[in-house]
Amino acid sequence: MARQFFVGGNFKMNGTQKDLKAIVENLNNAQLDSNAEVVIAPPALYLDFVKQNLNKSTVEVAAQNVFNKPNGAFTGEISASQLQDLGIKWTILGHSERRNELGESDEFVASKTKYALDNGISVIWCCGESKDTRQAGETIKFVENQLAALAKQISESDWKNVVVAYEPIWAIGTGLVATKEQAQEVHAAIRSWLKQNVSDKVAQETRILYGGSVNAKNCKDLAKEEDIDGFLVGGASLKPEFVEIINSKQ
Ligand code: G3P
Repeated sequence: MARQFFVGGNFKMNGTQKDLKAIVENLNNAQLDSNAEVVIAPPALYLDFVKQNLNKSTVEVAAQNVFNKPNGAFTGEISASQLQDLGIKWTILGHSERRNELGESDEFVASKTKYALDNGISVIWCCGESKDTRQAGETIKFVENQLAALAKQISESDWKNVVVAYEPIWAIGTGLVATKEQAQEVHAAIRSWLKQNVSDKVAQETRILYGGSVNAKNCKDLAKEEDIDGFLVGGASLKPEFVEIINSKQ
């Protein structure tokens, strides 16, 4: 089964209503590859605003985070049921900015992933190594450990609602994109780990995205790699060139 090309836009903590309206209008007016699944993740405050302004049926809206409890005294958090209430079907989880800035452990990210999946929210689950880890030659081992922590908490059938985003930390927001060989090597290793530790079916069907300084210039080459099934885009998702990235497989 061919894996559907997937492009996510992670707006991070960027944008006001005016900016987001312009981004959404650009998508509304663009000719988007109808074979590509597109998900954009504005700040939580603007999830509904973006959803209301979008008129493209192939574009969904995602949260950037969700908590692992149903409701209650968790100041600053948002719940899966609140996302559902707004018709939001996706969330990003495990982004390195949250793992590092906010101290989210592999286990905590896995528990939030499990909770989201159990409550009808699909997950773009992020992993990826630091520059030091890469220089030490431990990239694959590091990513495999992150995968193992996730696989420990979710079942085989959960994987159909998970998209993996490989985002080397040294490539995020730096302009230092991974080469297609570097990205393909890790993507292939992730797929092989899934085959050995989850199942052949999950390995074949799980989309593995690349994230880290993807732009209109480098996306086409990366998209040709066998195990690169799409992108998770930060900075360039806020710009008109996001359309070219969505259409990079055409
Ligand atoms: O989640 C997307 C990401 O971290 C990559 O950001 O700005 O390098 O495309 P950027």
